[in-house]
Amino acid sequence: MLSLGWIAVTYLLGAVPFGLFVGRIFCGIDPRLDGSHNTGSTNVARLCGFRYGVLTLLFDAGKGFLPVYLASTFSDSTFFLGLVALAAVAGHVYSVFLDWKGGKAVATTVGAFLALAPGALLLSCLVFIGVVLASGFVSLGSLALVSALVLFLILSGQFGLAFFAALIAALVFYRHADNIQRLAHGTEKSWKKKKN
Ligand code: G3P
Repeated sequence: MLSLGWIAVTYLLGAVPFGLFVGRIFCGIDPRLDGSHNTGSTNVARLCGFRYGVLTLLFDAGKGFLPVYLASTFSDSTFFLGLVALAAVAGHVYSVFLDWKGGKAVATTVGAFLALAPGALLLSCLVFIGVVLASGFVSLGSLALVSALVLFLILSGQFGLAFFAALIAALVFYRHADNIQRLAHGTEKSWKKKKN
């Protein structure tokens, strides 16, 4: 019962649209209506400025980290902890507060796996930074991050967590379908300043 209740509460916390709150409160915009139309930190940074993107990132990662970390203090079941991570991500992507719409799951995944497998997560963040610096595309970095996470979990023998990371990575790829199309057509927005 406690386990099911925890998963439900985690889903509800994951569903809180912090990017929408930050956009509305600090710069009076709705990130769903402009830019990539995403409520995540990248779009909030794009529309409101870097510092508000970071704030959104902290909240979105926090709602992944907190319930998973607390769950790990009373359970060591990989299956349960993986489900809690999945619930946080599902809440973020399919939010009951946003008509079952939501974000692209990257920050919440980072928070959840920071609690579950910090080593693999930190290495994956290095991959993210490298790809973003080299390409200028946050979306490409995000796809590389979740792929690297699965790989590092497998390489470190954490197969149960790798299974849940792979499920989440599939969801992240699905939610980046538009970005993948734009990357393929060369129309994805880069953070690098174009030289004339
Ligand atoms: O984490 C989201 C990022 O990968 C892409 O965001 O707003 O450029 O679609 P956006």
